[in-house]
Amino acid sequence: MNNSELEHVASELEWLRKEINRHNYLYYVLNQPEISDSEYDALFDRLVELERRYPELVTPDSPTQKVGAPPVEEFGIVIHKIPMLSLSKANSFEEFVDFDRRCKELLRLDPSYKIEYSGEPKLDGLSVSLIYENGILVQGSTRGDGIQGENVTQNVKTIRSIPLRLFDDAAANIRYIEVRGEVIIHKHDFERLNAERAAKGEPPFANPRNAAAGSLRQLDPQITRARPLDAFFYYIAEIDGVKLETHIEELELLKKLGLKVIPYYRLCVGVDDAREYFNKLLEEKESATFDMDGVVFKVNRLDWWTILGEISRSPRWAIAWKFPAEEAISVLLDVQWNVGRTGIVTPVAMLKPVRVSGVEVRKATLHNEEEIKRKGFKIGDKVIVRRAGEVIPEVVKPLVEARDGNEKEIVPPKNCPVCGSELVKEGEVFIRCPNVSCPAVLKESIIHFASRGAMDIDGLGEKLIEQFINNGLINDPADLYLLKKENLLTLERMGDKLASNILDSIERSKKTTLPRFIYALGIRNVGEHTAELLAEHFSTLENLMDASLEELTSIREIGPVVAKSIRDYFDSPANKKLISKLLLCGINYEPVKKEEKTALPLSGKGFVFTGTLNSFTREEAERIVVELGGKVLSSVSSKTDYLVVGSEPGSKLEKARKLGVKTINEDEFLRLIGRK
Ligand code: IVH
Repeated sequence: MNNSELEHVASELEWLRKEINRHNYLYYVLNQPEISDSEYDALFDRLVELERRYPELVTPDSPTQKVGAPPVEEFGIVIHKIPMLSLSKANSFEEFVDFDRRCKELLRLDPSYKIEYSGEPKLDGLSVSLIYENGILVQGSTRGDGIQGENVTQNVKTIRSIPLRLFDDAAANIRYIEVRGEVIIHKHDFERLNAERAAKGEPPFANPRNAAAGSLRQLDPQITRARPLDAFFYYIAEIDGVKLETHIEELELLKKLGLKVIPYYRLCVGVDDAREYFNKLLEEKESATFDMDGVVFKVNRLDWWTILGEISRSPRWAIAWKFPAEEAISVLLDVQWNVGRTGIVTPVAMLKPVRVSGVEVRKATLHNEEEIKRKGFKIGDKVIVRRAGEVIPEVVKPLVEARDGNEKEIVPPKNCPVCGSELVKEGEVFIRCPNVSCPAVLKESIIHFASRGAMDIDGLGEKLIEQFINNGLINDPADLYLLKKENLLTLERMGDKLASNILDSIERSKKTTLPRFIYALGIRNVGEHTAELLAEHFSTLENLMDASLEELTSIREIGPVVAKSIRDYFDSPANKKLISKLLLCGINYEPVKKEEKTALPLSGKGFVFTGTLNSFTREEAERIVVELGGKVLSSVSSKTDYLVVGSEPGSKLEKARKLGVKTINEDEFLRLIGRK
């Protein structure tokens, strides 16, 4: 082959690598792909083919080098030129204020001065260090003991979002840069990974952090490559060729270089602003796609880092303010069996009071009898209690090694703890009180009937409902509409005014909507959203009552289990009687007009969301879609019309690409809903 031919090939190779790297970045870092998978594959195949024919032209930054090297016997050792430090911790606002005060003392600033901090999530993964020389990734290492770590270069190269070559423009003057960040596994990927392992009979990972660590430290890079690893960067340990003044500038430079930078970071001015940021992140914690266990605050001015220095292997210019622990140890004092509105009897743990996530917990769910058996709980056990976000506290597991032999078995009841009826087994895990007029079932079903999303009877709380039932005033929800003032006045602490108010609210609730009415009936597995789907599909309650299982399952989002609950409910003579009685009492709703719906801009369109939007919370965006006639679906399927992709999207994006579902970004979504 002559020189000009070789030059020709070299320039095609260069173009291919640039183009593929650009698409990798668009896909894995920005999550905004521009081309289809098959177009991408065509480019990649061409590159592989050319490199096979001209092996002398393969370069270390070629995208083909991301596929991973052969296994090694053991990892080499890397001595960190700049030690990988730890962070000192704060557990409260007061401790953070102490930190802020110490900084001001060392910097000789006035106590009232507001220091600027970069606030960012504390990621719970495995820290890594990457070195790029002249823009090319030459080394990746783990933290190890902070002084020396393991050489995992071949493994980090397989991580999709880590570039083998930095962007030429931004990296032009950077001869050398060492960046630090965290390798993580997103929560949804973690769940999928564990499910796959379970299917293969492999032991599950305990948490995303362990999974990330175990996946990165594999001697065979092919195993690492098969794991869903991602990496976020938050620190420049050393840079040669560019001068920066603040930490935020560092983060912005990392972005321009094509690295994936820690999301949610923000400049905070002074301690109050920092606290506000901390609280905001604490709220976001559950909905974030990755685990974070606190907030890291770093003094923004880099010249101050030099003055502040470090102490016992932690910098004095940064602190990790940890989120309150979500788990605590308590004692299982007793188990109470609660009867719910559908008659299902569930075990509730009575606990020695304990603070979890800043709240005192005395009761927590034990889920069901099966769970008690599986985990082997006994009364008297020391147990781990967990409270995450808005979910009800739960008892995670007993500490078996702490037993002293005085623990007692938990015996599920044979009879309903409220009405004494013999309980029946329902499916594998549930026990149920079959008595439709069990006072506990009645109370719970009326609380549900009167609740905000259902008939919305203002002022009718749990205590009053209990009084009605105990005094024999009501035997079913319809009896509420038959109450008279003289009945109410017989109750303790009931005055004329209060009685009138309650009767007014009850009267007002008669005029309702079909979705509310359906939801109020308390059909098993039918929440507000399903009630809306049913109302829209059937327009009247009569149509719904007559619907066959086939018709029910033909509705998007309604599966066989929900369909069967609905059919079972309407097949019960007692329920039919209750519905006639409610209608006789005067409950009425406007029939749902289908024409109106179809006239709306998003009528008939199914939306799925993934990632975080800037302009709205997820709930707001979903409400807008519904108001404009669209439907919000929970997962991507062929019935999805649009996948709206925010920042940090989850696995839904990949699925949408596979199924050829249209994906739109936030801007396109705003245009679609007429806000742009
Ligand atoms: S900065 C010298 N920023 O926490 C400070 N670290 O306890 C360099 N970490 O080893 C680290 N999120 O693995 C920094 N936003 C963040 C972080 C973070 C998590 C980890 C990191 C470090 C450990 C220190």
